[in-house]
Amino acid sequence: MDFPLFHLDFMGNRMLVAVIAITHVIINHALAVGFAPLVTLLEFRGYLKHKTNPEEGKAWDEMARKLLFIAFIVTTTAGALTGVGIWFAASLANPASLGSLIRVFYFAWFTEWIIFVLEVVFIMIYFLTWKKSGESSLNKKKHILFGLWLSIFSWLTMAIIVAILGFMMDPGSWVEKKSLFTGVLNPLYIPQLLFRTPVAMMMAGTVGLMISAYVLKKNNKWRNEILRYISFWILLWMPVAAAGAFLYYWHIPRAMIGNLPVALGTQQFQDWYGSLVIVAIVVVAIGFTIGILGTIAPRRLPKHLLIIPVIASFLFLGTFERLREFIRKPYVIGEYMYANGILVEEYPLYQQTGILMHTPYSAITEITEENKVAAGEAVFTIACSRCHTTHGISSVVRKFERMYASKEPLNAEAMKTYIKSMHNVRHYMPPFPGNDAELDALAEFVAHQQKRPRKLDGPQVKGVDVKEIVYEINKTDK
Ligand code: HEC
Repeated sequence: MDFPLFHLDFMGNRMLVAVIAITHVIINHALAVGFAPLVTLLEFRGYLKHKTNPEEGKAWDEMARKLLFIAFIVTTTAGALTGVGIWFAASLANPASLGSLIRVFYFAWFTEWIIFVLEVVFIMIYFLTWKKSGESSLNKKKHILFGLWLSIFSWLTMAIIVAILGFMMDPGSWVEKKSLFTGVLNPLYIPQLLFRTPVAMMMAGTVGLMISAYVLKKNNKWRNEILRYISFWILLWMPVAAAGAFLYYWHIPRAMIGNLPVALGTQQFQDWYGSLVIVAIVVVAIGFTIGILGTIAPRRLPKHLLIIPVIASFLFLGTFERLREFIRKPYVIGEYMYANGILVEEYPLYQQTGILMHTPYSAITEITEENKVAAGEAVFTIACSRCHTTHGISSVVRKFERMYASKEPLNAEAMKTYIKSMHNVRHYMPPFPGNDAELDALAEFVAHQQKRPRKLDGPQVKGVDVKEIVYEINKTDK
């Protein structure tokens, strides 16, 4: 049983995690995983050109260094902070799931941390020794080698985390054979990695192209060639990304695909699914056009419009992350733990005996007429607050009002009937985990919130009345 630690009643915990995580993924994919090999390649190209034309070699080298400078600043500040921030926010929002994931992936996470530290060391060495590396050919070669190591380590951190993300969607054979090995080799791991890798490369290309178009002066003799090279890089990765996307889509369990329309457009806009898919196609087309134009006629690249593919690729990845997080609902770890932090196998017990008596989080064991609303609040916090607020984003009151298309006082009986079968109608919601008395209390709480809206403070504000749970052990069973 989970212990709710935190609740943001205006924006909801989901939004908090999403904002931090999406910022991080964009920085990580575009400016670390994709940028490191792109910059190294540009530097290597400079090194080769240097042999025949030192001036040209220098132009490529300078451009690569400037790109790295930006990546260095952003990844070691905002990138690293949001990276740690994801785990802080996620462990506040859903401590039980983080707990489970750490137990399964302890060794993987530990390795990831070491690799991350090495990645930071490599980017420091790579950036800080850049100017000195130009002194001799041997230094330059060694320097390029550091770029290569940085590329490998940046990719490895992503490769490890993707195993965990795949596991959360579909743990595969881990459900029977619970080991780190079966957890890592989940069915969605490799397909997702094969999709993310080229997407990261493409994103790096769009950002690199935009920055280079601004940094390189029009009178720079090699401007066009550098822009052409980066455009070609984008083009080259596009078919790989498309193939990865198909492979990935193919492996996603069909039940999750069914969640896609609501995931993409929210319930209100799910009918716009078709239009949103068209928007996605347009985004890809923009990237493709820029790639072609840059490769054929780099001189014609409209500098000020190069922000469009950058924004488009960021939106694309952000949407992808949102969808991925959404479609695995109602689970936070596929088939094993629901998004409310309750294990699937614990459900029968709670539904029979009630959930409140098993949670140290609420002092209430027996629901009476006097404590009904307070009990309902506790049930809401346990069963609904991971995804709903009272009156903020994804407000439970408004969800009911919208469903009944009426602002009239909510009918407790109707709500009870709905909540009892909500997981059958709306597959992204877990079943209600409590008993009938708790369902009654929850409906009362929602109706009360509609009548007298009151912000629901999270445990971080109001604290908790912990109760002691005594488990009776039948000694004769021994
Ligand atoms: C795993 C997350 C999650 C949990 C837990 C959850 N919900 Fe939902 N609920 C959603 C999502 C997502 C929607 C659809 C939101 C949208 O896109 O409009 C939704 C929609 C609803 C709707 C509107 C449904 C409709 O058909 O119009 C109601 C009512 C609702 N939830 C009530 C509850 C109650 C009560 C609980 C707790 C017992 C709960 N939910 C728990 C995610 C959740």
